[in-house]
Amino acid sequence: MYSEKVMDHFSNPRNVGEIEGASGVGTVGNAKCGDIMRIYLDIDEDGIINDCKFKTFGCGAAVATSSMATELVKGKTVQEAMQVTNKAVMEALDGLPPVKVHCSLLAEEAIHAALWDYAEKNGIVIEGLEKPKSDVHEGEDEEEEEY
Ligand code: FES
Repeated sequence: MYSEKVMDHFSNPRNVGEIEGASGVGTVGNAKCGDIMRIYLDIDEDGIINDCKFKTFGCGAAVATSSMATELVKGKTVQEAMQVTNKAVMEALDGLPPVKVHCSLLAEEAIHAALWDYAEKNGIVIEGLEKPKSDVHEGEDEEEEEY
């Protein structure tokens, strides 16, 4: 059901932990399953993400996608980090079962929330970055969701 890469990142997650005095911190939840994700970014004066860590109270797919997402954003500029979408993370993991796709949204939204926090603290604008949601389902039409 899960690819080898997903199993690897789930059993052996990279970059678990927190960064003290992080440049940006983002937390998002998924009210439907109760899972929570927090991402910490350490960004240098050139706007390069030197380090990224995460903590989650989430399912295996959320752990694996966050682990891969942190690996993908490391070394990137804040603008390049915007390309690390849940789709890009899923591709890097060789896919997720359809019912688990929503779990990968936590990682993407948490990165966006951490970038937003960084941008606000530094008075900058990151192109394409919108104010993050605190819940991945915020603003959705409940009726249209199928689980
Ligand atoms: Fe909640 Fe996966 S079931 S994030």
